[in-house]
Amino acid sequence: MRIAVCPGSFDPVTLGHLDIIERASSLFDKVIVLVSFNAHKSKASFTVNERMDMLQKVTEHLDNVVVDCYSGLLADYLKMSGACAIVKGLRAVSDFEYEFQMALVNKKLYSGAETVFLTTKEANLYLSSSLVKELAAFGGDISGFVSPQVHDFIYERLTNKEK
Ligand code: PNS
Repeated sequence: MRIAVCPGSFDPVTLGHLDIIERASSLFDKVIVLVSFNAHKSKASFTVNERMDMLQKVTEHLDNVVVDCYSGLLADYLKMSGACAIVKGLRAVSDFEYEFQMALVNKKLYSGAETVFLTTKEANLYLSSSLVKELAAFGGDISGFVSPQVHDFIYERLTNKEK
């Protein structure tokens, strides 16, 4: 069985993430969407459980997708889960340097998995969790950027938080 891991902060999950997860699910036998920790990002807006809950809701239609979390090194999780690939979405050129560095480090730490980059859909080129958070904080319309199943939860939480 070919297992892929889609790691990320998912704080919160956007339609851009979902597009990558859906495409990974058609390429691999099983996809593990992994809520992981980015040492470069300061405090998250949603708890790990909330992020996993949102991911479960938006991936309900994908039979071969499961959601998990891990606070250690991605390379260790890959080894434990028997995954052969890390799937990541690439947006603008600005993503490239960081993602390239991560891919090289992960390969060095665990040579059993390859990093596979999927280019994002044009519509999601500038979409990010930070953009969704900023929009919601100012009462902007985020319906074009997040799944309907999690829209109200994200919006209410982020707008109330800023008041
Ligand atoms: O959505 P993000 O924040 O771009 O995802 C980055 C993430 C969480 C996938 C990355 O920071 C990660 O893999 N974190 C786990 C720790 C790790 O293995 N770091 C890379 C080697 S230093």
